Amino acid sequence: MLKLWKPILADLGAQPLDLSPRRFGLVVACDGGLLEVSGLSVPVGAMCRVSHAPGKSLAAEVIGFRNGRTMMMLLGDMILLRPGARVWAEGRPGLLPVGDPFLGRAVDGEALPIDGGFAIHSRLEWPAGGVRTSALDRSPVRLPFDTGVRALNALTTFGVGQRIGVMAGSGVGKSVLIDMIARGASAEVVVVGLIGERAREVSDFVERHMQAEKRDKTVVIAVPADHAPNLRLRGAMLATAMAEHFRARGRQVLLIMDSLTRVAHAAREIGLLLGEPGAARGYPPSALATITKLVERAGNSAASGGSVTGLYTVLADGDNQDDPVVDTARSILDGHIVLSRDLAQRGQYPAVDIAASLSRVMNDIVPQDHQQLARQFRALIASYETNRDLVLMGAYRAGADPQLDRAIAMHDQLTGFLGQPQGEIVPLDESAAQLAALLGVGR
Ligand SMILES: Nc1ncnc2c1ncn2[C@@H]1O[C@H](COP(=O)(O)OP(=O)(O)OP(=O)(O)O)[C@@H](O)[C@H]1O
Ligand SMILES: [Mg+2]
Repeated sequence: MLKLWKPILADLGAQPLDLSPRRFGLVVACDGGLLEVSGLSVPVGAMCRVSHAPGKSLAAEVIGFRNGRTMMMLLGDMILLRPGARVWAEGRPGLLPVGDPFLGRAVDGEALPIDGGFAIHSRLEWPAGGVRTSALDRSPVRLPFDTGVRALNALTTFGVGQRIGVMAGSGVGKSVLIDMIARGASAEVVVVGLIGERAREVSDFVERHMQAEKRDKTVVIAVPADHAPNLRLRGAMLATAMAEHFRARGRQVLLIMDSLTRVAHAAREIGLLLGEPGAARGYPPSALATITKLVERAGNSAASGGSVTGLYTVLADGDNQDDPVVDTARSILDGHIVLSRDLAQRGQYPAVDIAASLSRVMNDIVPQDHQQLARQFRALIASYETNRDLVLMGAYRAGADPQLDRAIAMHDQLTGFLGQPQGEIVPLDESAAQLAALLGVGR
């Protein structure tokens, strides 16, 4: 117990005593979660408290200012809030708590524990917007990243420090796939941001991943769908800041964000509330810029030798691959896994659509013969899929196309290779060996 108290007391001792007068602002307008406060000059990103009942206060965050008024967004409900309520600033603007005390813990968007454990006391802080580094500090992706999923390891090999998107419509298996990767991946620290998802999934995830020895290397930041948009955005920033902090200490980090689309939705809500015009599908330009910035923060660091491998799920609304978030994500990410509803409906899980999935760094990180085999596999799958109807109708006569003959003969083995039960982990070298065995035997 004394061990817990000592750093806290040391910290308190180190803080200079602030005897300057406290400044308050007054709430002058409130609509739709947006507060206008007069008389308080605090920077964007500052956290404030609004007193709404004697001895009680609500949290709010500064998101902009206009005509001498400060605009804030409430983090909770606006129940009992009245005109003229007092507002004061709190904490240090733009800085988020990070550090080892978060390992093994689950927290919300304000970095407060949600796992029922002790309060988290961390003395380290990291800028919410990240530390801007020069483009040349990003060392290239050189080492393969083991996902523990055979189809991905063998056919779209990803690299350490790569940013990968998992794109699919709703209910096709994004969350289950990243769950498999979180379990099978080799990483020193796993930071998971569950943003805008269902609360049930959060408790499921925490229960499954916060066990035994894995617990000490996992941080979960969860902000379910019913939380205020700026809290969701803050959760995404906190997860990214946490990953950056561990990277700066030379660790290999896996950052998982489920889902990037909900982060974009949160940024859209805030942008529209501040009066920005909505452009593509109602997304103001700032919302798309927010996700670009967020994704750009993952990658390798030459200075520390650490890395952040980013895994982001993207909801392709209505299975529409031309959604602005899908488009932006695809252009900024270095690889994407596309899941197909057709395959899921046929019972093939994970429902990876190999033809549409791509790793832009695969050719730099795997040997020539592996690349060759992966190309062969893709060609066989593509050949079967394009002629699938003909084959199933019996309109195809064997011998007309040797490639298709081989694809038909091997079809069961090929789909068997792509499938993998949820609890199974297939390491990278074994995936490559199985691919070689599969295509070698069928030759
Ligand atoms: N590998 C798998 N094995 C068996 N069933 C699966 C697998 N992956 C997904 N499913 C089934 O698909 C359902 C939906 O999966 P999941 O929750 O991962 O979808 P999602 O793409 O994350 O959806 P949403 O966009 O709504 O969050 C699961 O509840 C499960 O029944
Ligand atoms: Mg999901």
